[in-house]
Amino acid sequence: MNRNDAPKTPATFHVKSFGCQMNVYDGERMAEMLGTQGMTVAADGSEADLVILNTCHIREKAVDKVYSDIGRLTREDGTRPMIAVAGCVAQAEGSEIQRRARSVDIVVGPQAYHRLPDLIDKAGRGEDAVDTDMPLASKFGALPARTKQARPTAFLTIMEGCDKFCTYCVVPYTRGAEISRSWSAIIDEAKALVDGGVREITLLGQNVNAWTGEDDKGRKQGMDGLARELARIPDLKRIRYTTSHPNDMSDGLIAAHGDEPKLMPFLHLPVQSGNNRILKAMNRSHSAESYLRIIERVREMRPDIALSGDFIVGFPGETDAEFEDTLKIVEQARYAQCYSFKYSPRPGTPAADMDHQIPAAVMDDRLARLQALINRHQVEFNSATVGRTTDILLERKGRYPGQVIGKSPWLQSVVVTAPELSIGDMVEVDIISAGPNSLAGEISRRKAA
Ligand code: SAH
Ligand code: SF4
Ligand code: F3S
Repeated sequence: MNRNDAPKTPATFHVKSFGCQMNVYDGERMAEMLGTQGMTVAADGSEADLVILNTCHIREKAVDKVYSDIGRLTREDGTRPMIAVAGCVAQAEGSEIQRRARSVDIVVGPQAYHRLPDLIDKAGRGEDAVDTDMPLASKFGALPARTKQARPTAFLTIMEGCDKFCTYCVVPYTRGAEISRSWSAIIDEAKALVDGGVREITLLGQNVNAWTGEDDKGRKQGMDGLARELARIPDLKRIRYTTSHPNDMSDGLIAAHGDEPKLMPFLHLPVQSGNNRILKAMNRSHSAESYLRIIERVREMRPDIALSGDFIVGFPGETDAEFEDTLKIVEQARYAQCYSFKYSPRPGTPAADMDHQIPAAVMDDRLARLQALINRHQVEFNSATVGRTTDILLERKGRYPGQVIGKSPWLQSVVVTAPELSIGDMVEVDIISAGPNSLAGEISRRKAA
């Protein structure tokens, strides 16, 4: 392996995350860990001594992007940073990555990144630095405590892995079995985040609502109990969670949407398809009807809830009529926003070997039709907020002087001009206009923090 031009003892680093929110969270934890080791974030990513590509394996395109990025890391003068491939591609492909891309120094899976400092040392000595173990003891205990956060919002992974084995999906293989973190570890991390300035926490898990554990009195709890406990942290103003699975939408969680004011009225609940034959072939273990019944019950508890979903078009064997059922469920569910994808065959998953893979042109056409419908509903949802008065949590500065951007309870970006306000403030605004991707607001009155 040619490692001659890579730094042996990196002092600066850059983390690039490609995947889901849990992947972003992992990237943040890696960065915080390297920070406690005395390394600093490179002012300019292209000048970093160590580049960590925190990868995603969910669709083929995501994987291709990683390899093209690796190629681009070698600079014009022939030097390059030390390169680590972390995340789900690392888990899925292991040392194969180094055969395909010889400049990769470190390969570290999503359950092993607490060992990154050691792997950096090994790579510096020119030793093998591949770690895709899924150790029994969770990495979380080995990571340093959360540090002060730059933003008022934070992710907090409460469970990992997936036992559902949808036939198209790599996650059960890259992330392993469902494992819930302990009640106390989660509460402690939340408190540390809030002490560090965070006002909104998004609880994360591949199936976040499958979280289960015992509280400090030994009582069995689900994610709803956990959310209610977190809501008792005074300076924590908002709680969100993602991604939830329809089969884990418990009565308790649905009820919490009705009476826990800190639980935001937003639910990301993927259904993937509106056709029962396809749902069965996907091994989703819910039907279109049972899904619609769940969202109906959530809406009874919280009528203003904003829904979001994920869809796959062109699953093997999907007929035109079956795709029409997906358009139908979108009409029925009325999402505020959605993610939709063309089916991507993933090595090792059952669906990749199924007959009747759908041609790319058919998938393109279906995706365009689905997205047109979803976009129309998104515009309608945003327009319906015009005239409302609502809290927003200010998250970042806007493009123009004095502009700040916050999020509504329904996860919409709201732009306000308010030079006197600071990031992290909660303010009440009147929504005055809506575009497809953001709203404009005016301050109603300053809310007591
Ligand atoms: N655990 C979540 C989803 C995690 S993956 C759930 O079950 O809802 C995020 C999304 O990626 C999925 O909801 C699905 O829509 C999409 N996805 C997963 N595998 C895919 C594949 N092979 N091709 C296309 N999209 C895929
Ligand atoms: Fe993948 Fe299905 Fe698990 Fe979601 S529930 S992570 S789509 S296997
Ligand atoms: Fe991608 Fe792994 Fe997340 S495959 S979607 S980064 S769990």
